[in-house]
Amino acid sequence: MTFSIVHLSDPHFGNVADLQLIQAVEDLVPDLEPRLTVLSGDISLRSRHGEYQAARAFVRELERTAPVFIIPGNHDVQWWWRPFIPFGAQAKYRKYVRYFGPVLAPTVKFPEAVVASALTSHGITWGSLTYRVRDLAVKGHLPKKAIERVGQIFAEADPEQARVLVVHHNVLRGELSQRMGLARWRQAQRRIVESGADVVLCGHDHQEQSDLLNGKVVVSCSGTLCTRTRGGRPAVFHRVTIDEGSISVEQYRWEANHRVFKRSDVYTYPRPRRMDEAEVATSVG
Ligand SMILES: [Fe+2]
Repeated sequence: MTFSIVHLSDPHFGNVADLQLIQAVEDLVPDLEPRLTVLSGDISLRSRHGEYQAARAFVRELERTAPVFIIPGNHDVQWWWRPFIPFGAQAKYRKYVRYFGPVLAPTVKFPEAVVASALTSHGITWGSLTYRVRDLAVKGHLPKKAIERVGQIFAEADPEQARVLVVHHNVLRGELSQRMGLARWRQAQRRIVESGADVVLCGHDHQEQSDLLNGKVVVSCSGTLCTRTRGGRPAVFHRVTIDEGSISVEQYRWEANHRVFKRSDVYTYPRPRRMDEAEVATSVG
């Protein structure tokens, strides 16, 4: 089996959206033959109607190739509606919900894979509080309940189904930003490993990255599709391909001279949990 996901993030529709990049993605995605396209948050810049309307048109175009799996990022939360108030939290997501539906942490199942998500964008809440004032509505938080729900979904999956987790905030430290996306990141990383995920898709840092978390979970952190790339570098998005024995993350890098995304670096990992299972099977047999 081969299961491919086009992984996009942080288009930030609004005045920083780069329509050249958006159009190039629309043109290329059909050739990449994904079974699913994931848009891991920060759809908008300021949660405005016009931004979401443009994003809807983009999603509709992508849906001509494959279903689109979408979650909100911190820019898609109108946190000023309910700072610190745990009740009526839905108001913060009212506009996002109007355009992308009421499910903030969707799940989708294919014969080859189970894709589940956890909401890490909560605006200003006690869980995401940090000591840095500028981080206030930016940092994410991975609540225990949310990751336990994902762990339950993965536990019910068939052994041959790959387990894919989608969150908005980067789960590894950004190379240039040197920042973690999540508050209490060690705890969050441990929870992600314990959830049983084979691969986690995230964004938020605006710099692409792929590595292994704890030697067990493949991380695909996709770059942005807006003009605010980290360090002014070319934009990058990912295609993640899962087969029986491996997971690969291919990077598609913007080439300004030719106005196209070109396949560049490819990271391939053995499916680490499959290795563990193989060892157990050998020792039992
Ligand atoms: Fe973000």
